[in-house]
Amino acid sequence: MVLKEKIAASSSYINQFSKGPVDIGIILGSGLGAFADIIEDKYIIPYTDIPNFPVSTVKGHAGRLIIGSLKGKRILVMQGRFHYYEGYTMDLVTFPVKVMKQLGVKVLIITNAAGGLNPDFNQGDLMLITDHINFMGANPLIGPNDEELGPRFPDMYEAYDRELIHLAEEIGNQKGIFLRKGVYIAVTGPSYETPAEIKMLRLLGADCVGMSTVPEVIVARHQGLRVLGISCITNVPINRMGHTDHNQVVETAYKTGPLFKDLLIGIIEKVQI
Ligand code: 6GU
Repeated sequence: MVLKEKIAASSSYINQFSKGPVDIGIILGSGLGAFADIIEDKYIIPYTDIPNFPVSTVKGHAGRLIIGSLKGKRILVMQGRFHYYEGYTMDLVTFPVKVMKQLGVKVLIITNAAGGLNPDFNQGDLMLITDHINFMGANPLIGPNDEELGPRFPDMYEAYDRELIHLAEEIGNQKGIFLRKGVYIAVTGPSYETPAEIKMLRLLGADCVGMSTVPEVIVARHQGLRVLGISCITNVPINRMGHTDHNQVVETAYKTGPLFKDLLIGIIEKVQI
């Protein structure tokens, strides 16, 4: 089966359960899965049920798709994503984004857990991504280009939608949720950085580091989706060099859950599709 047919098969399977086109897609990062609990009229589809969908393998990633509504918008939530370090190809890592486009998604909200590189940051901060650095040594658009999906050489200026960032800031102000802004740098992982690498990544101009998001954003922009990216700063190695532990990363992200939920509800309510 060629990619296009795979996308069509996955989206028509999901379509059976979604009442009409979906407005907003949301990818939940490590420890941020609890957001899905507040979705109304929800229908839950395990990734294992969806034709051609990869299956996620990381602790803290549930591996299911939730379709439903919130504040009058139709939303589709990925609880658990696919990482390059799991051994999936870039095609598989970004496959769900292509399916979302097919399902009618116009706005994609991408979240992640990330390590802080900006020394002003604190554990538990939320950061709106203003830009990224692809430091993965791979790009999901390598290979033949499907002109129906998007251009060969897609523009990456303002990849993170200015209006969506502005809206998120407004909601943050209204609700008293403190938000950072900054640059996300993506590495492959799965090993965390050495202290020398942390210092280098800061020198490169990034405010936080993680192992996801960038491939998804590249594919989303290629297809013309509007993107909002939010990082949960789970640890700040630049200030406190020491051991990094995945359980602690997930736990810290989990603790930001209520704030994160509040922010997302506000954005979903106010965003113009
Ligand atoms: Cl310190 N590094 C990377 N690569 N990913 C992370 C992280 C650090 N903290 C959370 N996710």
